[in-house]
Amino acid sequence: MEEAKKTMLSGIKPSGDLTLGSYLGAIKNWAARAEEYDCYYFMADLHAITVRQNPVDLRRRTLEQLAQYIACGLDPEKNTLFIQSHVHQHAELGWVLNCYAMFGELSRMTQFKDKSAKNADNINGGLFTYPCLMAADILLYQPDYVPVGDDQRQHVELCHAIARRFNGVYGDVFKLPEPYIPKVGARIMSLSDPTSKMSKSEEENGGTVLLMDPPETIARLFKRAVTDSETFVHYDPARKPGVSNLMTIYSAVTGKSYDEIEAEFAGQGYGVFKPAVGEAVIETLRPIREEASRLMKDKAYLEGVYRAGAEKASHIAEKTLRKVYKKVGFVAR
Ligand code: TRP
Repeated sequence: MEEAKKTMLSGIKPSGDLTLGSYLGAIKNWAARAEEYDCYYFMADLHAITVRQNPVDLRRRTLEQLAQYIACGLDPEKNTLFIQSHVHQHAELGWVLNCYAMFGELSRMTQFKDKSAKNADNINGGLFTYPCLMAADILLYQPDYVPVGDDQRQHVELCHAIARRFNGVYGDVFKLPEPYIPKVGARIMSLSDPTSKMSKSEEENGGTVLLMDPPETIARLFKRAVTDSETFVHYDPARKPGVSNLMTIYSAVTGKSYDEIEAEFAGQGYGVFKPAVGEAVIETLRPIREEASRLMKDKAYLEGVYRAGAEKASHIAEKTLRKVYKKVGFVAR
């Protein structure tokens, strides 16, 4: 029954190409959920412009991201896939929620502090109020769960606080969402610095594998992956962060447990282990890369998907927005 299904929603900023980290940590787990949940996924283009973007690249990446989501197994017939800026209710509710978020709590957001340090010449208002827009993204759809990486937990908690504050004034308008942080694969680290997350910023250091990287690149990145001065494959994130990260990746793509992986490589050094992880990743990503490239050439198909997605999303979003506008005292159109 449609009504009985729980709702999930998540977004990814199209500010960088999708990485192996976002696939294993997020998208891969999403694909399996479509039967059980009513799922909404969107390209967070409004969020992307808090950092300066090249317009041509942003447009291309947004479409590529959609193609890649589908290639990763998110069936557009079973999931609602859309582009954030196509559903104007996000920006509108985002504004309202700006007025229910406190300067102090926004100032405490770790991501704001990190990004301000990294973009000291462009600490804009959008970067500061980003969590209000994210809260709007979430609350418009009244989801039960919001699958996010560990780094977004604080934003979901702030969303909770804003929703509670709003409900406290106006009655039960918003459902309070829970972050949903999957245990395995939630945090894939950089191959060159296993103490930081695998992300776009790690790309230039050779730490990041992109979903669309060709096999030769992937093989090279894994051969060069940072390990430690010991010679055995053993899971110990504190002492052996590099090797443990490679084990997490290998486990996520092969389904093997850490014990099985240790047994498989017992007596063999990193010279065998690292290329084996690379090979397993290459074979996992090959069909995704091929399908995404094929979809990118079929612009009419992609357009059909994002139009249908935006239409469905707006319909739900509008119901929430109308309720909010009424509660705060706007005159109905
Ligand atoms: N802020 C998230 C990130 O940087 C992306 C995002 C935007 C998001 N809106 C969201 C995630 C709503 C979950 C729900 O990764």
